[in-house]
Amino acid sequence: MRAVRIHQYGGTETLKLENITKPKINDDDILIAVRSAAINPVDWKIREGYLQAFIPYELPVTLGWDVAGIVVEVGSKVSEFNVGDEVFSRPNIARDGSYADYIAVKADEAVLKSPKLSFSEAAALPLAGITAWQCLVDVANVQPGQRVLIHAGAGGVGHLAIQIAKAKGATVIATASAANQDLLINLGADQAVDYAKSSLKEQIEPVDIVVDTMGGDVQKHSWELLKENGILVSVVDQPDEELAQAHNARAAFVFIEPSSRILKELNSLVEADLLKPLIEHHFTLETIVDAHLQSQSGRTRGKIVIDIN
Ligand SMILES: NC(=O)c1ccc[n+]([C@@H]2O[C@H](COP(=O)([O-])OP(=O)(O)OC[C@H]3O[C@@H](n4cnc5c(N)ncnc54)[C@H](OP(=O)(O)O)[C@@H]3O)[C@@H](O)[C@H]2O)c1
Repeated sequence: MRAVRIHQYGGTETLKLENITKPKINDDDILIAVRSAAINPVDWKIREGYLQAFIPYELPVTLGWDVAGIVVEVGSKVSEFNVGDEVFSRPNIARDGSYADYIAVKADEAVLKSPKLSFSEAAALPLAGITAWQCLVDVANVQPGQRVLIHAGAGGVGHLAIQIAKAKGATVIATASAANQDLLINLGADQAVDYAKSSLKEQIEPVDIVVDTMGGDVQKHSWELLKENGILVSVVDQPDEELAQAHNARAAFVFIEPSSRILKELNSLVEADLLKPLIEHHFTLETIVDAHLQSQSGRTRGKIVIDIN
């Protein structure tokens, strides 16, 4: 089968499209014939070697941890799937990924995809959608009427977070550049904020929840936007507990875990027409370098998808 692997950490020149053996499945796995994969910033962060201390890969490794496709083999201990099922998953990041014709995935990391999602849309949803759900629902426990600020609302995590927060009844404020203000409103945000126009403090009334997808200075300037006992949830930089206390706020950090429970919740929102991934960039295994460069640009609207079969 075809797979894009890295044999060493480094720049885009390390991405190699190769012919390798199809993965063998364990008793609790399913084998998925990949129709679409999606790109996330973690893909190129792993390629560059930034996560070496955290996830010790034995190279070569196939990149890509978002997948939608068709079940073609089922492990002997798997009862919930049949050959021919259309599924999607954010599989365990420690195993070989989805830039390939086939991927082996633990059955409890996959769910049947809603018929309302194309394979491209289903591949675009798991990693970013689970992350947004974990921040807003599992950690921040968002409630109807709460004010939620979502940084980078035009990006992969942010554009899904806007829709999830709206579905939960929150008032949503989201940030983006001038070019993406209309997109934020079209996604459902109640207030679109241009982060380059003036300070966020001048533009945003206090909020209950901040979803921080930027870290650094953006996180630093977010404390002053929180109401008393509000919560900042970051997916990028571990928030400073002392700063949180100084602002009478709470802090949390989320690193995504595979979750079929949350994939089912996302499917339900899709079924209710409350959630739809936006895909503005399509690539193939042959053009994977351009896909990584697009993600590294930091300017992606919605998601980047790799059409595979
Ligand atoms: N911890 C975890 O489990 C986890 C999970 C998923 C993602 N992440 C991390 O979260 C970050 C975001 O991921 P992503 O997939 O959403 O990235 P992405 O899709 O690449 O984000 C791109 C977006 O960022 C926006 N942006 C850039 N600078 C901005 C700024 N100063 N203020 C507001 N928006 C800005 C851009 O909008 P404009 O062009 O309009 O500026 C663009 O739409 C990445 O660092 C990723 O690694 C962590």
